[in-house]
Amino acid sequence: MLKDKRILLILTGGIAAYKGLDLIRRLRERGAAVTPVLTRAAEQFVTPLSVSALAGEKVYRDLFDLTDEAEMGHIQLSRSADLILIAPATADIMAKMAQGRADDLASTLLLATDTPVMVAPAMNVRMWDHAATQRNLAQIKGDGVTVVGPNDGDMACGEFGPGRMAGPLEIVAAVEAHFGPRPLTGKRVLVTSGPTHEPIDPVRYIANRSSGAQGTALACALLDLGAAVTFVTGPADVAPPVGADVVRVETAHQMKDAVLAGLPADAAVFAAAVADWHVAGASAHKLKKSKDGLPALAFAENPDILAHVAQMTDGRPGLVVGFAAETDDVVANATAKRARKGCDWIVANDVSPETGIMGGSENAITLISDAGAEGWPRMSKAAVAARLAQRIADALA
Ligand code: CTP
Repeated sequence: MLKDKRILLILTGGIAAYKGLDLIRRLRERGAAVTPVLTRAAEQFVTPLSVSALAGEKVYRDLFDLTDEAEMGHIQLSRSADLILIAPATADIMAKMAQGRADDLASTLLLATDTPVMVAPAMNVRMWDHAATQRNLAQIKGDGVTVVGPNDGDMACGEFGPGRMAGPLEIVAAVEAHFGPRPLTGKRVLVTSGPTHEPIDPVRYIANRSSGAQGTALACALLDLGAAVTFVTGPADVAPPVGADVVRVETAHQMKDAVLAGLPADAAVFAAAVADWHVAGASAHKLKKSKDGLPALAFAENPDILAHVAQMTDGRPGLVVGFAAETDDVVANATAKRARKGCDWIVANDVSPETGIMGGSENAITLISDAGAEGWPRMSKAAVAARLAQRIADALA
């Protein structure tokens, strides 16, 4: 959480500046106030209007005008923040920092400040590898600047290698780490997520409408609080969380094996929509249309992963949390499900089509525990995740 933290975010000119927009959102979601600064080159990639709209604050631009100076002088601007973050940081701004130059607003702020500085470099791989950049990098590190990334990957210029800016969530994690230990630091949490696919034959399968959004949001929220997260996911629509140990599976049987391999954990949260049945004797060959009639599919029960883990006598996680997807009598069914499975908490939600919850971006849950049923107002899946992660942290404290 970055509540009450003030971050001066300098965007410099690179194609990765568009990721700076997402970074602003992510920082603000966690409670930080973001004051943006755009260099003249950055304005070629993102507009002051979009940056200011996302930050909810005035943008300070490269061209210093007297109104800016009268409202907040550059010395005060550079010192009023808890952290100065440069993302993306070009080779040019790193060179200016290394040399102590002050020939535009961003470099002047950086020279005038006594606030901690973090940079997320982004540049072409050859520029990154160049001896001059590496020299500047060593210099600014020596001056106490924290460096996040860059990562390896395909680059906008068509080359591959180090130079791609760290993802917004990685940068947020570094910012949070900078502000100190978090409540789940040192704790391991296992999360299951997404649907499972149960094969009929090599090209067909039975699945469900789970997008994996709630499980992914929860894993992100747990990571934000400092947990080490093992994320066992079926074939989901949303990308898995950056920073988690991601284990991809397809079937319920594979998910069970991956979960058992992922233990021990301090807590385990079962957000996956696991298929209750698989096709018994799935065909190794594609089923063909036949004059002899329709294929008859026989089903067999899948293992109940949540019940298995909740009822382990040896190595059971201290806190076992299940989800209950219901369409009728949500609280009564979920309460019975909690008792039947033996888990500590059940997060119950109404997945009737008219709620738009399954596959949607919002959720309205009831948290069922020993203490009874607690209804939460409808909110975004990210907000449900943040609140649930905090409750998990409180329970493990
Ligand atoms: N679950 C599981 N393994 C299964 C089925 C479900 O781990 N084979 C977990 C889910 O991840 C979820 C919880 O059990 O946390 C409840 O899932 P849900 O589909 O609501 O319940 P079911 O056990 O399938 O019961 P029913 O279909 O009768 O409602």
